[in-house]
Amino acid sequence: MSIHFENIVQREKELLCSTYGRYPLAISRAEGCRLYDLDGDEYVDLLAGIAVCSLGHSRADLADVMSEQARKMVHVSNLFYQNEQLDLAEKLLATCEADRVFFCNSGAEANEGAIKLARRYTSKVKKKDAFEIVTLERSFHGRTLCTLTATGQSGLIKDGYDPLPPGFTTVPFDDVDALRSVVSDKTCAIMVEMVQGEGGVRPLSMEYVDAVMELRREFDLLVIVDEVQTGLCRTGKFWAHQHYGIKPDIFTSAKALANGLPMGAVMVGKEAAQGFEPGSHATTFGGGAVVSAVAAKVVDIMQDENIAERAEEMGKFIKSQAAELVRKHPEKVAGVRGLGLLLGIELTFEGKEVWKQLLEKRFVCNLTQGRILRLVPPLVIEKQDILDFLACLDGILQKAEI
Ligand SMILES: Cc1ncc(COP(=O)(O)O)c(C=O)c1O
Repeated sequence: MSIHFENIVQREKELLCSTYGRYPLAISRAEGCRLYDLDGDEYVDLLAGIAVCSLGHSRADLADVMSEQARKMVHVSNLFYQNEQLDLAEKLLATCEADRVFFCNSGAEANEGAIKLARRYTSKVKKKDAFEIVTLERSFHGRTLCTLTATGQSGLIKDGYDPLPPGFTTVPFDDVDALRSVVSDKTCAIMVEMVQGEGGVRPLSMEYVDAVMELRREFDLLVIVDEVQTGLCRTGKFWAHQHYGIKPDIFTSAKALANGLPMGAVMVGKEAAQGFEPGSHATTFGGGAVVSAVAAKVVDIMQDENIAERAEEMGKFIKSQAAELVRKHPEKVAGVRGLGLLLGIELTFEGKEVWKQLLEKRFVCNLTQGRILRLVPPLVIEKQDILDFLACLDGILQKAEI
């Protein structure tokens, strides 16, 4: 461990609140699909800042938009009309069937907004006394009090924060009967990720999504899709719900929206959008001119360069290559799953040591749920990087003792 690294660890201990279990790595520079540590050593990035920098790091075209806009106008507040927000909204709405957007600053804030909108629409427009939000086990929706309550996980994320807000129920993943057994006239919305990211890269089945839409009709409730991780081409379509052919009442976006600048969006159908009125919801920073201009450029690039198709093809390529690992190490690799470039390689054993060795060999990926190597690389990753990663993983697995 270099002296630079020891210093940064010590400084952080003295300066920051202790909330993160960090990787044993300090990054000083990032470019394309590469990260560089304090000593200048290079790493292949299969994490993209946790599915954020989908177009790669430190792009000159995005930096140009950022600096041009920063010289013109950074922040004036949502008291004013601003074309930058509208240009972005127009582009985003052209990618899906939503009709209105609310801009905010993060995934949690987008989900918080979605939950608030669902409740307010139900009480004010529908005039129904239905406030329950149903979510799925192992889901992840954020760290605000409401979104952590919606999150279907226990442990430190919820520990010590009682009392949590009422009106949330969590049901087992992809289990139609369990869902049917809790939905009632009190249900305001069912909230799902089409592919659970933090929860271990688990796509919902078509049958389950059909059942959700059936319940929507039966109980006149809202369907909220959390696309914070899956949106913006990550899964091989612009939005993951488009794989399932559904039109959610509300869906949320964040992570890749401004390729690393903090931004979130709540995307809403015309009907549910009636739930908000001036003064009912707001944010100081949401939809600021710089992030909006950058996000508009992100959407343009994603469309001009067919990034969704690229993600789909590359995902298929990784799956076919990784299937070889399953054949070679059936006792160590349980399978590969996911959509597009949101992929999980499931090990049969605790994966910390494998993950650590990958990092030592200069491949950065994420370990989730203890056994799943989650790959969420920049969507512009090259095949050779993937082949190098899989060859390295193959070597590690060969030697791994389980
Ligand atoms: C599906 C999903 N929803 C919500 C969030 C929370 O987003 P943020 O960390 O930007 O608040 C995340 C973050 O990982 C996520 O993956």
